[in-house]
Amino acid sequence: MESNVGTDVARAAACLRAGQLVAIPTETVYGLAANAFDPKAVLAVFRAKQRPTFDPLIVHAASQKAIQDLVTDFPATARQLAEAYWPGPLTLLLPKNSRIADLITSGLPRVAVRVPAHPLTRELLQQLPFPLTAPSANPFGYISPTNAAHVAQQLGDRVAYILDGGPSRVGVESTIVGWEDDQTVVYRLGGLQVEALESLVGPVRVQPRSSSRPDAPGMLLSHYAPRKPCYVGVLPKLLVGRDPATVGVLAFRAELSGVPADQQRVLSPTGDLDEAAQGFFAALRILDADARVAVILAEPFPETGLGRALNDRLRRAATGPA
Ligand code: TXA
Ligand code: MG
Repeated sequence: MESNVGTDVARAAACLRAGQLVAIPTETVYGLAANAFDPKAVLAVFRAKQRPTFDPLIVHAASQKAIQDLVTDFPATARQLAEAYWPGPLTLLLPKNSRIADLITSGLPRVAVRVPAHPLTRELLQQLPFPLTAPSANPFGYISPTNAAHVAQQLGDRVAYILDGGPSRVGVESTIVGWEDDQTVVYRLGGLQVEALESLVGPVRVQPRSSSRPDAPGMLLSHYAPRKPCYVGVLPKLLVGRDPATVGVLAFRAELSGVPADQQRVLSPTGDLDEAAQGFFAALRILDADARVAVILAEPFPETGLGRALNDRLRRAATGPA
């Protein structure tokens, strides 16, 4: 059988024009893309991911101009952020117009929009006469994919083509931002640092948690989760009372002594949070797949820069108090 993984942008475009699903690389994580103007294709995205339709989708377009055609208002503050950080890991919640189906927004009045930065996906979007709706290309609730192999393993038979753009540069999903009474609100901590937002628009409110119905940003509490139990805390303490041969360790800067080195993933020996984010989801997958590992022990990151987004993902991956 011909491989359905490659770097052929024209083939990806042809599949999307035909209403099929294509996995696309972005700088944050891989997306499961479909023509945002084709209701059948949009429904197929929810099905392929086994995602409940009450969890809305992000719409990706080639430019800020293309996004202006999808919304009824683009306030000055939003414009300021878009101009500074698009293309990039920033998603804006803006009031949708009638071109955006209710299915995409789960009936909410705002649509989530972004201009992704990956060169292959930019090329793809420029070739297409429609925007792409694309959630992360993982089964609902599981760890997000940061390379083509991750997508192939889990959704390979549900997509027409996987556009392989190499490992994602940022490694965590986009930061989702919206406005409530002129206050800038962060609904999901992500690849664009809070500091970067605040340097332009002043203090923001960070409100990433959500109740059962995610008015926001897919922030169901249990999300991005490995299948194995995962505990977060001070590593030597978490190890007490466990057989070191059965644990996997996700460490920030240094190994945990006493645990076999090949059951550990050290994300950045130099303490670089950007580097840690890049490798974070892949490391979690490796530990989740390792047959020797029964539980995953992870340590929190400094609450600064991308460390905030990583801690958010860890909280959602965590099983609860050890
Ligand atoms: O970096 C990213 O944002 C990646 C890449 C592929 O672009 N996409 C991504 O999509 O993470 P997804 O579907 O896994 O997460 C998007 C989140 C969802 O959890 C959803 O709840 C929230 O965005 N969201 C989407 N539309 C929304 C809306 N209209 N109102 C509130 N939240 C929305
Ligand atoms: Mg997701």
